[in-house]
Amino acid sequence: MLSRRERLRFVASGTALAIGVVLALVAAHTPKDAVASEPPGELMRTGPTSMFARGTLGPALRALAQPYGVRLGSAVNSEALLRDPPYAEVLAREFGTVTAEDAMKWGRLEPSRGVYNWTPADQLVNFAARNGQQVYGHTLVWHEATPAWLTADELPRQEAADLLSGHITDVVTHFRGKVWAWDVVNEPLEADGSVRETLWSRSLGPDYIAQALRLARAADPSVRLFINDFGIEGVNQKSDALYAMVQRWRAAGVPIDGIGFQTHTTTSRGLPRSFVANLKRFAALGLDLAITEADVRMPLPVTPDLLETQAKIYGDAVRACLAVSQCVSFTVWGFSDRYSWVPTVHADAGAACVLDADLSPKPAYAALTSAFPMRSAG
Ligand code: XIL
Repeated sequence: MLSRRERLRFVASGTALAIGVVLALVAAHTPKDAVASEPPGELMRTGPTSMFARGTLGPALRALAQPYGVRLGSAVNSEALLRDPPYAEVLAREFGTVTAEDAMKWGRLEPSRGVYNWTPADQLVNFAARNGQQVYGHTLVWHEATPAWLTADELPRQEAADLLSGHITDVVTHFRGKVWAWDVVNEPLEADGSVRETLWSRSLGPDYIAQALRLARAADPSVRLFINDFGIEGVNQKSDALYAMVQRWRAAGVPIDGIGFQTHTTTSRGLPRSFVANLKRFAALGLDLAITEADVRMPLPVTPDLLETQAKIYGDAVRACLAVSQCVSFTVWGFSDRYSWVPTVHADAGAACVLDADLSPKPAYAALTSAFPMRSAG
């Protein structure tokens, strides 16, 4: 097995392209059933030297990001991980950390009350371990992706408290030592900064967020605890409210280690001008920061201009993270247009990821690589 430095040299050499072409030819001649017949649950062991289909990618993103102290991650579609070996191979090669796109959400983990289905999430955790990747836990409490048995608008206080405590304790305990961070509560705030009305806020009051943080800490003393939200990237009413909330939590000894900035955006909207200033003020509270769900959708059809605009936004997002030393993680919400969630929620938009549906790099991929100029670790 080659060391990282050897691999970089190897990839940088023209030999890589030649091997890539050979692999592409082999792949093109591999019958589809060969892929389909992979036994379920048996994930491919992808070594760090493996090249994938086109061989057109440069040094892996994870290696470029590492010397900067940034974990470079992607959300992962658990079904694709099992049935799409090239997808799994690119994931292993390019990303140093993974987030379950859906597999760790309440509805997936606990489809019946008290009965857990750990399998897809465990498969991802095992894949990550085999490929030297860390796992970012997403998410313990969210108003979406809830199980079918938990549809009440409000519950008696004690019952809600028991449910919240049971789920958080079971899940954090199960993944203890296997995930480095948790999104403890996802999307807790409204645009005006008020606490979103959910089953939990109605039953337990807005303090449910602090309770969730305490429960997570009790179940794992060392995992990093994050609050994750969208629309908090710039200085605005929502991020102001979160900032004030964190200050109150700090004063009251509520365990909070970091803020996740989802960073979903569009080619027309881009990033807020106050992005870096906002990251810096949260960092000044002593928090870790993570870009947790970056993607940049565009109106379809795709044009070269839109791809360039998208690339610039991805690059700027990485540079914003690098401008703040506590920004410890940069995660894209899916790395390939083959599986992006965007078309399922935005009718005329798509192409939001850094690789296209054929797993070929787009200008945005190159923008990520050049946002982390190559430098050696240490
Ligand atoms: C999305 C997933 O990508 C979809 O597969 C799923 O159907 C719905 O949820 N913010 C979040 C993520 O915090 O959990 C969401 O993920 C995208 C928006």
